[in-house]
Amino acid sequence: MSKKLFIETLGCAMNVRDTEHMIAELRTKEEYELTESLEEADLIIINTCSVREKPVAKLFSEIGVFNKKKKEGAKIGVAGCTASHLGEEIIKRAPSVDFVLGARNVSKITEVVGKKHAVEVSTDYDESTYAFGEYRTNPFKAMVNISIGCDKACTFCIVPATRGEEISIPSDLLVQEITKAVESGAKEVMLLGQNVNNYGRRFGAVEEKIDFTGLLQKISGIDGLERIRFTSPHPLHMDDAFLEEFASNPKICKQIHVPLQSGSTELLKAMKRGYTKEWFLNRCEKIRTLCPEAAISTDIIVGFPGESDEDFEDTMDVLEKVRFDQLFSFKYSPRPHTEAATYDNQVPDEVASARLTRLQKRHTEILDEIMDAQLGKVHKVYFEELKPGNCVAGRSDDGKLVFVEGSEELLGKIADVKIVKTSRGALDGVVLSGS
Ligand code: SAH
Ligand code: F3S
Repeated sequence: MSKKLFIETLGCAMNVRDTEHMIAELRTKEEYELTESLEEADLIIINTCSVREKPVAKLFSEIGVFNKKKKEGAKIGVAGCTASHLGEEIIKRAPSVDFVLGARNVSKITEVVGKKHAVEVSTDYDESTYAFGEYRTNPFKAMVNISIGCDKACTFCIVPATRGEEISIPSDLLVQEITKAVESGAKEVMLLGQNVNNYGRRFGAVEEKIDFTGLLQKISGIDGLERIRFTSPHPLHMDDAFLEEFASNPKICKQIHVPLQSGSTELLKAMKRGYTKEWFLNRCEKIRTLCPEAAISTDIIVGFPGESDEDFEDTMDVLEKVRFDQLFSFKYSPRPHTEAATYDNQVPDEVASARLTRLQKRHTEILDEIMDAQLGKVHKVYFEELKPGNCVAGRSDDGKLVFVEGSEELLGKIADVKIVKTSRGALDGVVLSGS
């Protein structure tokens, strides 16, 4: 009889891919069926995120709850970035945890699963030639890691400490992996990396000369692959050649994440982001010029140490100028192993909260205008999920969530959809006949 696996995934897209990889790896050794019920699981894995403090604090209370609810003999594993940065301490604080598996070590899941109190958290482990497992959360879309780790040293960010040195996966392996996914029904690929457009910086065992633009061109040659997305690029590496490829390659979806973090050049310097406010605005202008239909999303941190009112006004100014289609905004959270956590000019919490509220409120107004303007537009939508009530959900080329009336036959199809109703979070449309 197959075992039952309950797996909770927190954090970023790379964690979602790591979860898929762990499922695939486990299934090479034993039959595992996924379950949503904690009580019936034989194996419970929490794939954690440590980018901000809150989810880390939540982890230990969650382990307590899981331990109470789980059936006799069921195992609990903690994987991901919090596993990397706390390591053995997790077992010390919560002895009910059976194994700890760092974000860089997910390939070792089958080795640790049978051992009591195994801890694998080395960030030196080189999986650059490792083909990631064949399991997809969504059968219509493939997620593919093109690089792992991060070589930047943004002073607020714990990721370089948890995921280790940046290594690119050889392009032939990537083409193989994507081709297989396409053969099994995926028309879309999401290329993943903490610093995705820095691809090619360092390979592990294999030497080759290719950059991200070259990789995009190579991958576009795969027959049957219709859509390419990628996350997260770094503004610093958005050179003209890359933006021109983004704009002109018909397979590349016209959605781009340009993580700002702060609009203040001085703060960007303190964050060690490597670009200025002017460079950021220039890159966004270039995107708008080359590709006016592109949706631009961003990440913003408020309350970074030393952030003055003027610094924050610079951030608001960039928001007004770029008018992002999507905003992920966070209050700065001091993290271990980061430089900024040692700065003595931390911003009071109430000041950071007030700034976050103002930023989000203004963005909401902008978003309402952007979404209202979609009325009557025609989008190419890739349908990927059935929803209750004879409804099918998909994504437009520029990443917007679109609902239409319909049934299973639409799944896995790309069709022209006319938008008939708009709201802040999604669009309603009708499939145009003949699509
Ligand atoms: N390279 C990745 C970054 C991963 S962290 C990417 O671009 O997606 C994702 C986001 O979390 C960052 O862009 C940043 O906005 C936010 N973040 C990272 N560290 C943070 C911290 N200490 N406090 C608040 N937000 C943080
Ligand atoms: Fe973090 Fe900066 Fe890398 S945000 S993941 S250190 S690019």
